[in-house]
Amino acid sequence: MKMNDIVKRAIPPLPWAEGDNIPWNEPGFSRRMLREHLSQDHDAASRKLETIDRHIDWIHSEVLHGKESKILDLGCGPGFYTQRLAELGHKCRGIDYSPASIDYAKQQANKSSLKIEYVWGDIRKADYGSDFDLITQIYGEINVFSTQNAKLILRKVHSALKDNGILIFEPQTLESLKESCKQPPSWYSFESGLFSDHPHLWLQENFWDENNKIKTMRFYCVETETSKTTSFAASYQTYTDLEYVQLLESSGFKNIHKFPSLTGREEDSIKEFVVYSARKA
Ligand SMILES: C[S@@+](CC[C@H](N)C(=O)[O-])C[C@H]1O[C@@H](n2cnc3c(N)ncnc32)[C@H](O)[C@@H]1O
Repeated sequence: MKMNDIVKRAIPPLPWAEGDNIPWNEPGFSRRMLREHLSQDHDAASRKLETIDRHIDWIHSEVLHGKESKILDLGCGPGFYTQRLAELGHKCRGIDYSPASIDYAKQQANKSSLKIEYVWGDIRKADYGSDFDLITQIYGEINVFSTQNAKLILRKVHSALKDNGILIFEPQTLESLKESCKQPPSWYSFESGLFSDHPHLWLQENFWDENNKIKTMRFYCVETETSKTTSFAASYQTYTDLEYVQLLESSGFKNIHKFPSLTGREEDSIKEFVVYSARKA
């Protein structure tokens, strides 16, 4: 695109029309993003490992009651959850479409001689396998899908679970996504960063669609040595608590419970995420 296209951009953008997610699946981006997953300075991309360890305690002890289980993690990233669950004796599979994350996850499993199956694939299309005791979807990614795609994923989850198998699902709250849209447009300059290895300007704006309860983020990366301009966009469908329950019920789930976090307890004053467990009837 040309820089002038920024001036001529649509305001507001149509949700999902300019891109459906940040480019997790692009090799260069995924390599740079892996650094953020691994960083222990912040909770972006993946939580810090001390937090993940507490999530694992809850999943292993309270959700699975210590019973050896067959587990699938959707959007597993670098495999922090699958690796730890496999170390506890569970049989794990992870699916993600970030090539660098899947490579890293495989290397970690090999190093520890753990038999974890990692699949590089898009969770909208990938074959999930079958007979899982537990399927997890952690850190809010379900909101980047339109409701149609979220339902498709939840139906695939339902059919991949054993009878009475459980889904642990961690979406983002409507309030936090809406609140984040109040930030005004912003710009930054970087010598190199997540979206480019070259010096660039980074422009960002957020939009809130009140009628449809959708957040859309739009970014432009302008490489300053060449003026190469690239646009990115991601939209997030939000749901109220009742709508999350309806979404799960309409995909065939029963016995739905809500938890304040993946430790089962209240953790943060700002409620960015919520956790649901749901059983295949
Ligand atoms: C915020 S990260 C969370 C990673 C991991 N769940 C964690 O907590 O460490 C979201 C992950 O979802 C993956 N993802 C997003 N959309 C996907 C899709 N359509 N298919 C497969 N993976 C996807 C990304 O590649 C990324 O690894």
